[in-house]
Amino acid sequence: MRVTVVGTGYVGLTTAVALAYLGHEVTCVDKNPAVVGSLSAGRPPFHEPGLAELLGETYRSMHFDVALTPETAGADVLLICVGTPPQENGDADLRYVEEAAAAIAEVLPAGAGTVVVNKSTVPVGSARRVESIIRDGLERRGVEARPSVASNPEFLREGSALFDTFYPDRIVVGAASDRAVNRMRALYEPILEQTFTPPTGLPRPDGQALPVFLTTTPTSAELCKYAANAFLAMKISFANEIGGIAERVGADVTEVMRAVGLDRRIGLRYLGAGAGWGGSCFGKDVHALLALGEQYGYELPLAAGTLRVNERQRRAVVEKLQQALKVVRGSTVALWGLTFKPNTDDLRDAPALDVARRLVELGARVRVHDPVGMERARRENPDLAVEYADSPLTAARDADAVVLMTEWEAFLHVDWQAVAGQMRDRVVVDGRNVLDRDLLTRLGFRYWGIGR
Ligand code: UDX
Repeated sequence: MRVTVVGTGYVGLTTAVALAYLGHEVTCVDKNPAVVGSLSAGRPPFHEPGLAELLGETYRSMHFDVALTPETAGADVLLICVGTPPQENGDADLRYVEEAAAAIAEVLPAGAGTVVVNKSTVPVGSARRVESIIRDGLERRGVEARPSVASNPEFLREGSALFDTFYPDRIVVGAASDRAVNRMRALYEPILEQTFTPPTGLPRPDGQALPVFLTTTPTSAELCKYAANAFLAMKISFANEIGGIAERVGADVTEVMRAVGLDRRIGLRYLGAGAGWGGSCFGKDVHALLALGEQYGYELPLAAGTLRVNERQRRAVVEKLQQALKVVRGSTVALWGLTFKPNTDDLRDAPALDVARRLVELGARVRVHDPVGMERARRENPDLAVEYADSPLTAARDADAVVLMTEWEAFLHVDWQAVAGQMRDRVVVDGRNVLDRDLLTRLGFRYWGIGR
């Protein structure tokens, strides 16, 4: 199948590379010439485990361009994967999606039956909006074509983007026509049937059921993306809410939520209490859901509470330091981890950045280390008054406290004896509840988890 992917961010590039691997003829379009240059040389413009290797296998069979052409717009399937950044009011900014739709209408050749797919996280009504922009554009040009528009929300997680693309739980397609549904089913057939040879380093998980292909209306597909992310965010916030009460009564939230999650109706995942969630999706999508409710004068108290709890978690990390150190001003704090989670260089809405800023405001000297995210942090936050250290150990030199914000593998295997030897005082705030509390206590640390 001929496939064009517009926008080569996490969603677009991962999808494009996976589809190329599955044998489709894929063209990626991105208006940033630097990105197109890097992709044409087989280099992904961001860090995602396994992506560079897979792109290395596929890029020679792929095409990369800075703009759509009649040929690429007229592909069998065109996936719109551009960004939808949040606006002031929480609503997603559709500008880039609309630009993509207008660009399609500009060059789509007569007779083309392209299925145009919204894969970006878009507000309810976007499929219709894209459809009307394309229709108007074609009318203006006097071109007869019969594209159809579908919504195919993406559920991939950064850090496991390829795994989630090859082994999804479900593929959701919202479309008004059978033609669009059938073409989407054909596009994903190797994934739906699991007939492909797993890429190197991405073995098929044992015992996983085949993905469910779920067809619905574009509106339901659009809403399901917001609902899914809001629910996951709510699970985490709920664990954090229980964590707060666990601290007060002297219980341990990690044990409580394990017991809760072992009920199969609830499930163990996304119940990890800690510094809370960040990233480009959870906050944005919950805000967008609230903004949608507002348009209808409809309150969403659970979604609103999800946000409030998450904001409180970031403050809680700083409050623990205040309790441990009493006076934060003049202290040195080693902050381990900047990215919003491990295995990505993404810093969007990262709890660590908030905590770092707050500590600087309180007069602490903050020394950070992140295995992958420091270069980007420096570039994107030139105003952040922290020192960057090249290892966890150097970050801890003369520090009064270590604060772990992102559970990178490297932090789980540090030589704590050596860390202790470097520090002035021995406080550890474990923002992800992943460190060995007994070991740290034995080494003379005062350990603070979250919710325990
Ligand atoms: C999320 C959704 O999982 C994905 O389906 C959607 O398409 C995009 O948004 P992502 O933002 O990449 O993916 O990250 P995810 O792995 O889900 O983690 C989000 C945040 O939640 C991270 O900051 C993580 O640290 C935090 N988290 C996760 C917890 O605090 N506790 C948990 O138990 C799980």
